[in-house]
Amino acid sequence: MNPRIIMSGIRPTGTGAAHLGHWEGALKNWLKLQDMGACYYSIVDWHALTTEYQDVKNIQSSVRQILLDLLAVGIDPEKSVVYLQSAVKEISELFLLLGMMTPLGWLERVPTFKEQQAQLGDRDINTFGFLGYPLLQTVDIIIMKADTVPVGEDQVYHLELAREIVRRFNNLYGDCFPEPQPFLTPIPKLPGLDGRKMSKSYGNAIYLNDSTAVLEEKIRPMVTDVRRKRRSDPGVPEDCPVFTLHQAYSNSEEIAMVSAECRTAGIGCLDCKKILIRNINAFLEPFRQRRSRYEKIAVADILEPGNRRAVEQARRTVSQVRELMNV
Ligand code: TRP
Ligand code: SF4
Repeated sequence: MNPRIIMSGIRPTGTGAAHLGHWEGALKNWLKLQDMGACYYSIVDWHALTTEYQDVKNIQSSVRQILLDLLAVGIDPEKSVVYLQSAVKEISELFLLLGMMTPLGWLERVPTFKEQQAQLGDRDINTFGFLGYPLLQTVDIIIMKADTVPVGEDQVYHLELAREIVRRFNNLYGDCFPEPQPFLTPIPKLPGLDGRKMSKSYGNAIYLNDSTAVLEEKIRPMVTDVRRKRRSDPGVPEDCPVFTLHQAYSNSEEIAMVSAECRTAGIGCLDCKKILIRNINAFLEPFRQRRSRYEKIAVADILEPGNRRAVEQARRTVSQVRELMNV
């Protein structure tokens, strides 16, 4: 695989702030790809509106938190184009133009459309904007002519749709866009504190900016294998989310030890968790350090050069599209 143009986006929703699931699912690859091609990394605030249009007060502070997360993990705005989606108005023009040729059925068929509507039942997201979510995502990608998209596994279907739209466009109006491919990490899903998939909306996440104290508070009461009701009951580590986190953040001796001692009730869950707390702490420490260095800088100052470079590329693409579509 030889990526040339890389694009990805992250939504500034809820309290902002990225968690370990974002890191394992995608951000890790954002970092890795930074030296392998031209990278466009976007904070997609319009996408946040698709689900949060009724409650917009936190969007700006979420943008700030997400930007700090990106800087904290090592995304370098001098290497990568880091920008705010809404600063690139050309995205909205291309969204409108592609809306003309995107079959309604393709959007209605997207599994996340019905799933999220059911899951976020407290909000009315039976809207034009929410239906258009994957088209807007397609535009984010293709406006930069990206071929490689580092995302979590849950985004694979969106990328399939993006390729279908690209093929339809290229057929109707002439070759313009490459077909974007997802770039996945080997660990697809990280469990959260309750054992379900780690997700902001489940309230079970460990955030990249959690302090040592918060980390302890969260992991101590974490769900374990139900077989270990008493200290003397042996467990099955494969059925314990604490163990899955060990596999991601502990070294091979620790993993082997926990695995053996859990099965024989040689180690108690609290001691097992203490090792995990120590290791996640050590893992997060460099992020915390880098984050604190950026904390005083104004968001606008960091985003401005990236916004400018993103607009330049978007303008080039949109003027090509206008020509091809005769408008
Ligand atoms: N839908 C993506 C998510 O929820 C976010 C996103 C928006 C995105 N635009 C994108 C990801 C473009 C990759 C490329 O994670
Ligand atoms: Fe989970 Fe560790 Fe307890 Fe085993 S000892 S059940 S792996 S917390």
